[in-house]
Amino acid sequence: MKRALLLLTALLTITSQAHDWEDPAVLGIHKLPYHATLQLPSKWKDCQEIVSLDGQWLFHWSKDPASRPADFYREDYDVSKWKTITVPGNWQLQGYGVPIYININYPFVRNRPSVTTEPPKDWTAYENRNPVGSYVTFVEVTKEMLQKNLILHFGGVHSAMYVWINGQKVGYSQNSMSPAEFDVTSYLREGRNKLAVEVYRWCDGSYLEDQDMWRLSGIFREVQLWVRPLVHIADYRVTAEPNADFSQFTVKAKISVCNTGKKTAKNMLAQIRIACPELYGVNTNPSHQNVTNSRIPQLRAGDTTTVELSFHYETAPRLWSAEKPWLYPYTIELRGQKDSKNDEAFEYHFGVKRVACVGEVFKINGKNVKLRGVNRHDHHPVTGRYVDDATYEKDITLMKQANINFLRTSHYPDREYLYELCDRWGIYVMDEANQESHGYGYANEEMGNDPEWRDAHVDRAESLVKRDFNHPSIILWSLGNEGAVGPNIQAMYDTVCRLDSTRLPFYDCHPRYSALHDFGYPTPDVLKREAEKETEKPLIAREYAHAMGNSMGNFQEYWDVIYADSSIAGGAIWDWVDQGLKDSSYYKYGGDYGDKPNDANFNINGLIGPDRVPHPHYYEVQHVYQPLQFVREADGRISIINHDYFTDPSEYDITYDTVNVSFEKYLNVSARLKEDKPWAKKGFPVASEQFQLSKGLKSVRIYDGIAPKVKESADGIIVSTDNSTITIDKTGALSSWVVDGTEMLKAPLEPYFWKPENDNQHAAGFARRLGAWRDAAAQRTVRSIKTTKNANLVAVTVDCTLPVGADYTLTYKFYEKGEVKVEADYQPTATDIPLIPKFGMRMRIPADFTNIEYFGRGPWENYPDRKRSAFMGHYKMPLSDFETEYIHPQDNGNRCDVRWLRLSSAERTICIQGEQPLCIRAWDYGEEDLEPAKHPHEIQRGRFVNLNIDLNLHGVGGVDTWGQRTLPQYTIDGNKPYHYAFTLSWQ
Ligand code: GAL
Ligand code: MG
Repeated sequence: MKRALLLLTALLTITSQAHDWEDPAVLGIHKLPYHATLQLPSKWKDCQEIVSLDGQWLFHWSKDPASRPADFYREDYDVSKWKTITVPGNWQLQGYGVPIYININYPFVRNRPSVTTEPPKDWTAYENRNPVGSYVTFVEVTKEMLQKNLILHFGGVHSAMYVWINGQKVGYSQNSMSPAEFDVTSYLREGRNKLAVEVYRWCDGSYLEDQDMWRLSGIFREVQLWVRPLVHIADYRVTAEPNADFSQFTVKAKISVCNTGKKTAKNMLAQIRIACPELYGVNTNPSHQNVTNSRIPQLRAGDTTTVELSFHYETAPRLWSAEKPWLYPYTIELRGQKDSKNDEAFEYHFGVKRVACVGEVFKINGKNVKLRGVNRHDHHPVTGRYVDDATYEKDITLMKQANINFLRTSHYPDREYLYELCDRWGIYVMDEANQESHGYGYANEEMGNDPEWRDAHVDRAESLVKRDFNHPSIILWSLGNEGAVGPNIQAMYDTVCRLDSTRLPFYDCHPRYSALHDFGYPTPDVLKREAEKETEKPLIAREYAHAMGNSMGNFQEYWDVIYADSSIAGGAIWDWVDQGLKDSSYYKYGGDYGDKPNDANFNINGLIGPDRVPHPHYYEVQHVYQPLQFVREADGRISIINHDYFTDPSEYDITYDTVNVSFEKYLNVSARLKEDKPWAKKGFPVASEQFQLSKGLKSVRIYDGIAPKVKESADGIIVSTDNSTITIDKTGALSSWVVDGTEMLKAPLEPYFWKPENDNQHAAGFARRLGAWRDAAAQRTVRSIKTTKNANLVAVTVDCTLPVGADYTLTYKFYEKGEVKVEADYQPTATDIPLIPKFGMRMRIPADFTNIEYFGRGPWENYPDRKRSAFMGHYKMPLSDFETEYIHPQDNGNRCDVRWLRLSSAERTICIQGEQPLCIRAWDYGEEDLEPAKHPHEIQRGRFVNLNIDLNLHGVGGVDTWGQRTLPQYTIDGNKPYHYAFTLSWQ
């Protein structure tokens, strides 16, 4: 007896220690079943049934569960001194605790299901061993409301929460990116009610939420109180499918109705009303005007029933596609035949489409549509994981303008409104389950085989499909990212397939669970090869073209491969927006909050900045993703290749204009919108191309003046022209240029071969591999300096040896009017010289030369491997626009194919004229200021303008940021000779 008792006490202690939030078997307590978004998000504000509880809540933060105010939910607990917090929001961004950015590893010690195992002392989680946010708000409830069914809805809470009302425990939930709902009717009373929510930063669910992102916490999506009829629509799912040849279509609606009252409900009608005048009259039963319904004679208290309705239209549907997002609006209604007290109606829309893999070809509406995609994290620089409607609209606008037609909601479901925008404006969506256990390894078996984690996985698939089922934009359901493989994933897969046969399942970790075979981050060649190897399924790169920092080189190369192989469905760029968090003067990334461990700037990978300003490489995406490609035929005519399937080129206005600069002539062709769209105005160019019509005549400069004076001094060779005195020093550099008595140089014009890294190059070992070039110019040995003079010029020839094993000759030619022509010749003598970061020269001029005018590629920054979107033109801009400020400072601002460039101060202008196209960078800081800086505000600026005048430079790269190199055709072989020349003059 005694033994048994002891055992019981022991068991009791064990149970009392196992928290719900460290127990994978407890996914929720008293949570209502997941269901479809009932009302279109854009109509929530006007929905009578919804009371928003968003706003200022009372808040208390504790560093760990032990120190939390455990009784705060009680009615007699005084919270009047608590500070307030904005709901929705993340507490780390409102002054509590530390945001952590980490990629693969868990921010706590991996020891599932524990999230509180002692970590190393320097980890953020050591002191803050699972912080707890205690939230309180007061909800006013009227007598009328109490006659109804009251449902408390949380759009998203990170990572787990308990809910109490008036001191009574309502329930518990985890699975942070999906809604949690509780029936709170019996807890509420007339008047003021205390709603208390206790949120844990981490829970066992966090083992499945190991996405590469800021780890933030709190009630970060909307909180609503739904005031519902006692008998109401619990859920509905609408599918709309075309028949085999798209000549007819069928709409099916499954409507679940539940009775939360105490009495049997009688004579209800559940119905769908398709509110599309176009369809009136084609309905098989015109008298019903596209209404079809089913009677529910009786529904007992506590029961739920599902009715199935269908329409068949013997007429061809207007199909939904990203190109033509045709929507049929409808309402789902519940009506009492005797009284209207339970009447309810929700507005939504369907689109008719078919998604299928036919052999190894991915098809939408029967066509081999290419997915021109991007991955997007739900990120806002100020509100973190909460992204407001206006930002969603901005994002989808910018995506549509960039010809992006495919969005992967990496790596979890976003807020509902985003999907509505995709439905309306036309974006194919891969909706992804909130499942990533990367901390156990990509495609790990530990989490996939452990039966204790089965339900936790399945919960995430179920919540995904059940919430978003009715959005026509969704084409693929993703089981998650970089998670497990094994029976638990199989169970997710089965769940998705059981819930929806009209969209396809996708998973990155193994094709067994996926309709498409994923291959992430291939080079263009590898993509081609993999697609040729794969014969069963279409291939997709669910992530490719890692857009970190100054990136997106070789993007066209990808699309040459993708368009050439019908088995490649497309790809999604990693990723949309830099995940910087706004500080007063700069954007923070991993480590900037003292967060440990962290992955530094590895979350700054966007096509656009956190403020939604496009980076230069955004425009390259826009260009390469354009649906129309213009080709100039041999006879001069321009033909169009249409990469779209549901839009004819004649649906655009085709415009032409010519660019004439110097002796060169270009033709710019564009296809423009004929009418306003929600995301762009009439006239917006959806596709553009530039063709060179006439090559520039080499400007033959006639120098008819007399030769300048020249003398040798201790400092070097001094040349005096009309208005200038120029010195070539003993190192062969042009070290001084005095114009009308003023020194114009802040640092000499001299050879310079180094280029600071960009993020891609850093991981690819650029500094090590090409490091020999860093000081190669400075360490040149001058073999001879010779001066010659003839009738109209003075020439100084400097012969050098470069330590990499090459001869290098500089020739300066000085003319009467002060022009200097500079020529550089490179002749390798060794045979294993590394790639040259850039081939060219550098000089520094006074800081007030801040106005730039040039003829070359622009207006935005471009590099040899990323210049297709940057057309030749005559551009003018301030120096600040010539530079690109990356959140993580790195090489930037280059312009290719520059014929000439002028930099001006208020008084003077320096002119640079190439003998061949030049690459030019201009910054108001030096390489030595840029390289050590971790953030833009750390760069010391304004002492001079640093000018790099190059024949060529190493491309930015565009595959990944963990080792892949810039494609060889965009690098500079150190074992070949080079020659270039340009002329400098001051005006
Ligand atoms: C992928 C991963 C993304 C992100 C990316 C690197 O493999 O799915 O979440 O980590 O690498 O930026
Ligand atoms: Mg990951």
